[in-house]
Amino acid sequence: MPRTASAVFRDCVQRPARIKSSRGNPFLRGLLKDIVAIYPGSFDPVTNGHLDLIHRGSKLFDRLIVAIARNMDKAEPLFEMDERKEMLEAMTSELDNVSVDIFEGLLVQYCVEKNANAVLRGIRAVSDYEFELQMALMNRKMEPRVETVFMMPAEKYSYLSSRIVREIANLGGPLTGLVPEMVEERVRRKIAQKQTYAAGLHLKRRAKS
Ligand code: PNS
Repeated sequence: MPRTASAVFRDCVQRPARIKSSRGNPFLRGLLKDIVAIYPGSFDPVTNGHLDLIHRGSKLFDRLIVAIARNMDKAEPLFEMDERKEMLEAMTSELDNVSVDIFEGLLVQYCVEKNANAVLRGIRAVSDYEFELQMALMNRKMEPRVETVFMMPAEKYSYLSSRIVREIANLGGPLTGLVPEMVEERVRRKIAQKQTYAAGLHLKRRAKS
């Protein structure tokens, strides 16, 4: 015989030790939150906008996995995957329910692997919406058990993206307030390395011709 909501509630409140998980039981969800969310992205590099969203997500979900996508389509990245992971780990170390990982392949497959029930994505402006909607609906078609949750970062980050950070840094502009200090330092070092390497290559080519 199916159990009533009040019986489930009694079990949950009076004998919480017996209940290991709310997963699969709609009565318990909300009483015993057990929501694992994945926050996927390129994070090349992590910005203050990403960190704002991670802090918001960590308050909403029981566990939040920041998942760096190994994306073969993207043009030459600034940072290697391990470097991005290292920076994200350093920036989220004080958040107990947040971990950082790298994934490859379909996001929804990764969600199933991690028993995640939600995907967290940030929407900064209306211009983000079309792409995000397409992605959320396609992900839902492939894996209906996973919901996409959109959150807005603070308004002061609504114009911020990793791409714009890379562009400003490449042209020697200021990154203050856009990324944490430690990330700014690493971005500057990385760009200086790349520029020295490119200049060396250019000189070699000229010497050959
Ligand atoms: O930071 P980004 O570049 O906006 O992140 C995009 C990302 C990594 C979330 C998206 O490209 C993704 O989910 N890639 C994994 C491959 C996948 O599942 N593709 C189908 C999406 S409908």
